Amino acid sequence: MIELKTQSDMDAIHENGRVLCSLFDRLETWMEAGMSTWDINQFCEDYITKAGCFPSCKGFEGYPAGTCISINEQVIHGIPHKEKIVRLGDIVSIDIVCDRKGNFFADSTRTYIMGEVPDRTRLLVRTTKECLDLAIEAAAKPGARMNDVSGAVFEHANQNGFGVVRDYCGHGVGFGIHEDPNVPNFVSPFAQNLKLREGLVIAIEPMINMGTHKINTLHDGWTVVTADRKPSAHFEHTIGITKNGVEVLTQM
Ligand code: MF3
Ligand code: CO
Repeated sequence: MIELKTQSDMDAIHENGRVLCSLFDRLETWMEAGMSTWDINQFCEDYITKAGCFPSCKGFEGYPAGTCISINEQVIHGIPHKEKIVRLGDIVSIDIVCDRKGNFFADSTRTYIMGEVPDRTRLLVRTTKECLDLAIEAAAKPGARMNDVSGAVFEHANQNGFGVVRDYCGHGVGFGIHEDPNVPNFVSPFAQNLKLREGLVIAIEPMINMGTHKINTLHDGWTVVTADRKPSAHFEHTIGITKNGVEVLTQM
């Protein structure tokens, strides 16, 4: 069931989304090679808590930390560890959800490039960000449907020769972390292709692989990696559909 949001709901989600945005901006300069993903998680949890929010991943379906930090071949849901060190040449996806008093969840992800990486890796990260931007543009057009969003991601990634993860999707968000509808990053003939109505709040999150789209889950039960162990990038924004197009709720 899809629960539409009022403008004041969206404003409240946006307030939490701004916390995420400023945290992600801060990480651009604060995060350095040599830090553990545990240190980075701690910094993020403190930042969110000081802003009066809660890092919603903590405890969600038993997940043990306030952020997901996924390096290189890790696609999503990397669990922060003291022994997992970020190194020069890595790409690091940080996926964070925050809420206030159990409501108005905002969900966003950025992939950071640590120092020098091969050109193709840089292209992967740039293309993934472009997939997100194109999807948001598609959602903003009058009369837009879900397939416009899904197709924008898939076409751009595919044109660059990258694999598009199918087993995980974007999602409705706001009153909970994961709500209806699903927001796929590819178009299937079985997609219901719903019309994007005013009041719909969704997280769009392309997960794009250097190699094939195939993924595996590690024995920790969480970490999703590419089947071919080639790198993967991930960007995400929470957006609200309004009368006039879209509001990106995880931007300032
Ligand atoms: N932002 C994540 C997603 O959309 C939420 C992660 S849930 C967690 O999948 F439990 F893994 F943290
Ligand atoms: Co999400």
